[in-house]
Amino acid sequence: MKKISPDILLSKSPNDTIILGKIIAKNLKRGDLVALLGELGAGKTCLVKGIALGLGVPEDHLVVSPTFTIINEYNGKIPLFHFDLYRLDTISDMESIGYEDYFYGDGITCIEWADRIKEVLPDKYLKIEMEWKEENERIIKVSGENKYNNIANRIKEEYIKRFKKSEKEKI
Ligand SMILES: Nc1ncnc2c1ncn2[C@@H]1O[C@H](COP(=O)(O)OP(=O)(O)OP(=O)(O)O)[C@@H](O)[C@H]1O
Ligand SMILES: [Mg+2]
Repeated sequence: MKKISPDILLSKSPNDTIILGKIIAKNLKRGDLVALLGELGAGKTCLVKGIALGLGVPEDHLVVSPTFTIINEYNGKIPLFHFDLYRLDTISDMESIGYEDYFYGDGITCIEWADRIKEVLPDKYLKIEMEWKEENERIIKVSGENKYNNIANRIKEEYIKRFKKSEKEKI
């Protein structure tokens, strides 16, 4: 695992992304919101899977992708609300779903394609930008404002440390 620059993480496999998801989960609290941005196949769902596993959701309870449902709820140590807005037609569908109960509820909310609901997205959230680099490599940016800035820094430090350690073990 190498660090390209302080603000960019590199994932070299789906498992690296799962590990990052688990680290993210460890650093989140009830009521926190994660916005996932990135094109098709960037690895957003893979990362949410890591977050779910990190929250203690059993692997066999996970839906691979909530493609047709918009929202899936998982019961981990903290409830996880997983939105996939790829097929969202209009913002009023968010109202019908009752998005406020999730966003401002007592669980953790993860939103794929969060840029589609700018109108109702809270102004502070953990921002995860994922970009396809090569077949198995993804560039991941983790950032946020206010308290999410601290959370983002802790996540990045832990992820980088995690891979430094395993590189040392190889020697
Ligand atoms: N380093 C990596 N991190 C995450 N996924 C990876 C990585 N390398 C390869 N992949 C593969 O890329 C695919 C990512 O799919 P995923 O469904 O997570 O993307 P997505 O961003 O949620 O796409 P969509 O917008 O279609 O929902 C998976 O098949 C996964 O195995
Ligand atoms: Mg997805």
